[in-house]
Amino acid sequence: MRTILDFARARREEQPIVVVAAYDALMARLVAASEADAILVGDSVAMVVHGHPSTVHATVEMMSLHTAAVRRGAPEAVVIADMPFLSVRRGRDEAVRSAGELLQAGATAVKIEGVSGHEEVIGHIVGSGIPVMGHLGLTPQSIHQLGGHRIQARSAGAAAGLRADAQRLEELGAFAVVLECVPAALAAEVTRERVIPTIGIGAGPDTAGQVLVLSDLLGLDARFQPRFARRYHDGAQAVVKAVNAFARDVREAKFPAGTEVLA
Ligand code: KIV
Repeated sequence: MRTILDFARARREEQPIVVVAAYDALMARLVAASEADAILVGDSVAMVVHGHPSTVHATVEMMSLHTAAVRRGAPEAVVIADMPFLSVRRGRDEAVRSAGELLQAGATAVKIEGVSGHEEVIGHIVGSGIPVMGHLGLTPQSIHQLGGHRIQARSAGAAAGLRADAQRLEELGAFAVVLECVPAALAAEVTRERVIPTIGIGAGPDTAGQVLVLSDLLGLDARFQPRFARRYHDGAQAVVKAVNAFARDVREAKFPAGTEVLA
C-alpha cells in the first residue's frame, strides 16, 4: 500500500488488509520489507516498550517519538498513529493540534478510539485533511470502565450500538475501523454493512483485514498470549537462547575470535 486510498481499493477488490503494530525504526524496517500493508504505531507501545500496565500511560509526546522512529525506518509505508488517552477529549483545537503533531512526526493517519461524545472532533480532524481510522469494541483506553480485557458487544443492545457507531464513523469520513474483541458474527455483520474496511483483532475471520502487534506475532513476551493472537515464532526463547550463547562464548573465551578480533 502506498496511501490510505489503498484501503478503499483493497476493500473493493476484496483483498484482505494486513496491519502490524510496531514502534521503532528497526522493526518498522522489517515490517516494511514484509508483505504487510500498513504499520500501526499503537498506544500499546506504552505497555510493550515502556512497561506500563495499560495504554492510558501513552502521551502525544510518546506517540510522536515512536511515530517519528517508525517513519525513519519505513519511509514509504502507510503509518497510522494512535491518538493517545484523552487527546480527543480536551476540546477540538487541542485534538487537532495533537493529530497534527502526529502527522508532522511522520504519520499518514491517526487512529481514534470510540466515537460517542467526540463525533465533532473526529469530523473536524477529517475536515482538516487528517485521515482517521476508528477503533470500536474493546477500546483499551477505557479499560477501567470496561472492567478488563473481555469480549465486547455481546448483548443485542450493545451490538446494535456498535453497528450504529461504525455507521457514524463512516459518515464522519473515517477510512477504516478497527474492531477489537467483538463476537465474530457481529464483526462479520458490520463488515457487510459498511463500505469502509473493518480491521479485526479478536473479531473473527470475516473482517476486511486483520491487525496484530508485532511482539505478539513474534512471541517476544512469554507471559502475554492473548487468545486471539497467533504466535508465528517463539521469539522470547530465541532471544534468550542467542544471548545465552553469547554469554557462554564470552565466559569460555570464544568471543571475539578470528575476524571478530580487529587488528
Ligand atoms: O495499540 C494497539 O496496538 C492497537 C491495536 C491492538 C489495534 O490499538
